[in-house]
This record gives sequence, structure tokens and C-alpha cells, in this order.
Amino acid sequence: MSVVIVVGAQWGDEGKGKVVDLFTERAEAVVRYGGGANAGHTLVINGQKLVTRLVPSGVLHPGKRCVLGDGMVIDPHSLLDEVAQLQARGLLSNGELLVGQDAHVILPYHRLLDGLREDFHAAKGKAIGTTRRGIGPAYEAKAARRGVRVRDLVRPERLREMVAANLDELSPVIAHLGGTQPSAAEVAKWIDDALAAGDKLRPYVGDASRVVADYIALRKHVLFEGAQGSLLDIDHGTYPYVTSSSTIAAGACQSAGVGPTKIDAVVGITKAYATRVGGGPFPTELHDATGEALRKVGQEFGAVTGRPRRCGWLDMAALRMGVRLSGMDGLALTKLDVLCDLPEVKVCVGYKLDGVELDEPPLDPEDIDRAEPVFARYDGWGPIPRDARDLSDLPVGARHYVEAIERLAGVPFYLVSVGPDRDETIALRDPFA
Ligand code: IMP
Repeated sequence: MSVVIVVGAQWGDEGKGKVVDLFTERAEAVVRYGGGANAGHTLVINGQKLVTRLVPSGVLHPGKRCVLGDGMVIDPHSLLDEVAQLQARGLLSNGELLVGQDAHVILPYHRLLDGLREDFHAAKGKAIGTTRRGIGPAYEAKAARRGVRVRDLVRPERLREMVAANLDELSPVIAHLGGTQPSAAEVAKWIDDALAAGDKLRPYVGDASRVVADYIALRKHVLFEGAQGSLLDIDHGTYPYVTSSSTIAAGACQSAGVGPTKIDAVVGITKAYATRVGGGPFPTELHDATGEALRKVGQEFGAVTGRPRRCGWLDMAALRMGVRLSGMDGLALTKLDVLCDLPEVKVCVGYKLDGVELDEPPLDPEDIDRAEPVFARYDGWGPIPRDARDLSDLPVGARHYVEAIERLAGVPFYLVSVGPDRDETIALRDPFA
């Protein structure tokens, strides 16, 4: 048996969905462990596009257990909507879904606060650029020990008391941020809707960490699916421009309730270039036609918000940090094909700050603004054959690029993805082996 964590090595949107889908073939259970409906994976089912936000990307494989871990923040309506869409396509119909009873719940006032706070700070040019899905306020409530959990959705009295207590504390904040206080009728509807959702979710709710432990004890392959990316980690990312959860591999253990000694491999996912959504430092960002070309060819628009993603060159200094933070055993390189029309490709190999060379980016907001990325350049390589299944099938330039990234990262590749389809993949190592 093997227990594998898949984690984003950049700022999210690395193409984890495709990699998780590929690895799920070998797994019995797929566990999403952090974040909420801020993540988005575009799945194509019988030619029809479907965006999942909460359910793990392994859902396309019937019969695999899809677990939403206790470290997540779950919008029950968003989840029910996703489940209905998946079931309409014949998926998730046979008890595959399991929702952690201790996961926290996103309620309408979390979304309200997220939006109010973004607008308030945007006026001063200091917005984080969140997805406005209520992620931050829900994690704040959790840390403040007044959060509502999935288990509370079937306890009407408890839920009413908790919501009232939360709103009591939050109403001065809503006023300060220029928001309108919700009316008693609105709050009553929020609670009724949450209880109705709780009732519908009842068959799926259970002890997620115990169930995952049982899979591991039975020596089944288990896959943990990270959301967002290492540089958005609440502790180790480009704070404050981060999400509110632990996005690195350790987050899988903490959020899913699995001990670190049970993990066999950590696979980092990186695109062949870099993107970021929302505010915050991005030293290799391209503000020119090349950045536009990456956005267009790579279809770099947010799956959840539709926002255009900021695009730039691959940052190996940041990637090395991601490898270190998650103890990645290797990487999956995605979207190599997106670069193929460019005459030259650059990679940031390190930084210079006040004359000192750095092999990882400085994380102090002022230092990172002043630091100069140091670039290596590679010749462009032209089209990649759609049927490339071995590194030797790649044009020479592309092969050099892949080898350079592997060398600079210091860990080997598990796979190289050369197109969006499942089979447009050069498989190099099996993470479950
Ligand atoms: P939040 O997670 O909605 O609070 O947003 C915080 C930051 O994380 C913002 O910059 C978002 O754009 C970013 N973010 C959150 N989820 C994702 C994701 O799945 N992909 C890329 N960026 C994300």
C-alpha cells in the first residue's frame, strides 16, 4: 500500500486536477484536505465541462471513496449543488462521498464579511484579492473557537444559538466595514437553509479521519489532494497574500487527521510557467505580449471566479522552497505544451538582494519588492507531438528545458503533461510503487 500527497508547488492552478485524476486510477480513496469552494477543477465528462470546487478531482473514477476532510471549510449549498451535478452524470451515486463531520461550515455571513473586507481594503489599494467565498472568515471563526461545523447542521437549537452568538460579535465589524446588518428574517432564512442542507447531507457525513485511517490500515492506496499551492500557505506563503489554510503537505496530516509516519510520497505539481490570481508579489510576472500569450494559450482564467490569472516565467527559487516545505519526493510538470510557440523561454534561478545572491525568494513584502530575479534563458522548441509518451519524443529544446527544471528543483519528475487529455502524458514514475 501507499499513501501519497499531491500538493500544488506554486500559487495554485498548477493542473492538480489532471494529475489527481491520473493517480486516482491506482487509489481506493481520494481525500481533499483543505480550503473550500475557493478551489476549482474543470472536469470534462462526455464532452461536457463541469467545475468541481469541493469534491476531489478523483470523482471521475467510479467506485473510489471521495472524502472531504475535517480541515476543510464547506459551503453546504455549493456542495449539494456539485453532488447533484455529478449524480446527474452518473457519478457519486453509490455511497462514494464522505464529508468530515468536523469540517467547518461556510455560512452567508462569512461570504458577506469576505466581500465587505475586500471592498473596504480595495479602496486603500490593500485588498488580498480573495475569491470572496467566505474562506478567511470561516477559518477565523474556527480559530476563534466559535465556528459552526458540519455536525452542527443537524442540531437546530445549537445552530441557532451559534449563529446568534457569531452575529452578535460580528455586527460591529459589519458596521465598521460599511455593510448592512442582516435582518432577523434574513438570518432565520440562513438558518433554515443551512438546516435543510444539513438534512440532505446527512447520509454523507461521518468520521472522515477514522475512515481514512481504516483504508490505510487495510493497506489500500490513498491519495490526498491538496488545494491551492505552497506559496498560498497561511504560515509559509507570501503572507498576507495567502489563503487561510495550510496548503503544504503537512496540512494533509493535520487537516485529514493522519499521522506523518503514514505518508509514503509527496508529489508537487508545477506548471512549466507560473500564474497567480489575486494580489501579492509575483516577481517573474510578465506585463507584456508574452504574458498575454501565456494567458490565452494556457487558458489562464480562474475556474471559480473567471478572473484572468497573472502570468509569468517559472520561478525555480520559489519552487525549490515549495519542494523544501512539503518534502516533495518529486514533481509533475504540467502545461509544457503552452510554451511551444515562444521564441525563448526564461526561468528565474535565484534572486539578488542588496548584492547578495539568494536561492529562495525573500518573503518579507518589502524585500521581495526590491529583490531582482536572476534569469536563465532557453531557446523555444516549436510544437510538441500530441502523442509524445517518452521524453525522447520531445523536441530537443523542450527536453533541455525539462532536464534543466529537474536539475534546478533537485528532485525528479513523476510525469510531464503535454496536453489536457489524460493520455497526453509522459509517465516517468509511479508514486504508489
Ligand atoms: P481566499 O482563499 O478566497 O481567501 O483567497 C486568498 C488568496 O488565495 C487570493 O489571492 C486567491 O486568489 C488565492 N486563491 C484561493 N484559492 C485559489 C485557487 O484555487 N487557485 C489560485 N488561487 C487561489
